[in-house]
Amino acid sequence: MTSEAFYNNEKWWTKNQAGEAILKVENIPISHIGTDPAQAEDMANRKVALPSNLGITDNRFGFALKYLVENTVNLIYSEHNPPLSDADRKRMDGNMPNEIQAELAYKVRPLNGVWATPPYLHNGSVPTIDDLLGDPEKRPTKFYLGSREYDPVKLGYKADPITNGFEFDTSIRGNSNRGHEFRKDFSKEKEIKGVIGPELSADDRKALIEYLKTL
Ligand code: HEM
Repeated sequence: MTSEAFYNNEKWWTKNQAGEAILKVENIPISHIGTDPAQAEDMANRKVALPSNLGITDNRFGFALKYLVENTVNLIYSEHNPPLSDADRKRMDGNMPNEIQAELAYKVRPLNGVWATPPYLHNGSVPTIDDLLGDPEKRPTKFYLGSREYDPVKLGYKADPITNGFEFDTSIRGNSNRGHEFRKDFSKEKEIKGVIGPELSADDRKALIEYLKTL
């Protein structure tokens, strides 16, 4: 990610309203990535009770959140002393519109520093990167959070039972460790939900892990 080719490639970059470069971060539909749908579905389907003084009429959680954040920010701006110009407000908004969304999709986040952020996937259901890239059937179905002992080979914390650790059970709703799978039956022609690449050999996995460590 330090090469000029990356920074000059239009595929990866767009511009904000001030013409500054912004990294494009794609949302991949759950129907493709196949990871646990609960978080996105709840964001889209959950309804919230809205006190009338908020002046928000859309009671879907994701959208109510969008307007609540925007209204709160605008209130703070309006109380600012000395008063803020429109240009100041835009700058403080990052020169971007409020695009909080409730899509049935998850983001492909840049993987910089990803070695340091186990457990993986949006719901933290996969303890190490080695598990994420390896045989999906071998991903741990129960593991323990709380250890600070880092495993530099698999890239994750040790997940054996520990005193006062928290048992993460992937069979509970919202905790599924499925999706983002590399399998023998991957095909570019016929999409299989949750299968995003071909089976990776132990050497390929190791090479990818060594590469990810450098980011
Ligand atoms: C060898 C290739 C790949 C590697 C090494 C890789 C690595 C990773 C890692 C480490 C994460 C976890 C990030 C985190 O928990 O913070 C992740 C998440 C994700 N990746 Fe990949 N990835 C690869 C290919 C792909 C492809 C081909 C796609 C698109 C189809 C994709 C889409 C995603 C998405 C949408 C997430 C977030 C899923 C969720 O949190 O539920 N990845 N990837």
